[in-house]
Amino acid sequence: MLTGYQEDLAYIHDVGFGAFSTESAPGLLEILHQKGINNSLVVDLGCGSGIWAKALTQAGYEVLGIDISDAFIDLARKKAPKANFQKASFLRVTLPKCDAVTSIGECLNYQFEVKMMRGYGDFRFSKAQVGFIATKI
Ligand SMILES: C[S@@+](CC[C@H](N)C(=O)[O-])C[C@H]1O[C@@H](n2cnc3c(N)ncnc32)[C@H](O)[C@@H]1O
Repeated sequence: MLTGYQEDLAYIHDVGFGAFSTESAPGLLEILHQKGINNSLVVDLGCGSGIWAKALTQAGYEVLGIDISDAFIDLARKKAPKANFQKASFLRVTLPKCDAVTSIGECLNYQFEVKMMRGYGDFRFSKAQVGFIATKI
């Protein structure tokens, strides 16, 4: 298994490409509110530097961010100190009981663990930005 982003690329992604998460946050919070999901646990797969986790904790949610990269987890812990983070592949963890699972910004396109991805059956990769909210888990 590869370990993913190191410190240099994690920093570049946070500073140079964090806008997608930042600008998505208000709309995603609105979707959660519309679904009646307030102040409960949200699991964020591929949490990166914790931009979305920070927005969630500021809005009163509990957060578990999962990322395969130590460098990203370090940044996320600094950016969103009220959230919990786990360094792991989201293809291997058992998700806790929660009200929503999110994954913002191409996380499902990575192929750090190609064999595990194949285990997802008819999983298709795309170059498009991917974001989803799954509720009522
Ligand atoms: C383009 S970044 C997006 C980060 C963050 N969601 C954002 O929008 O700023 C993709 C993230 O997915 C993570 N990632 C990719 N494959 C992963 C896996 N199998 N398990 C956990 N994290 C993974 C990468 O480490 C990286 O943080």
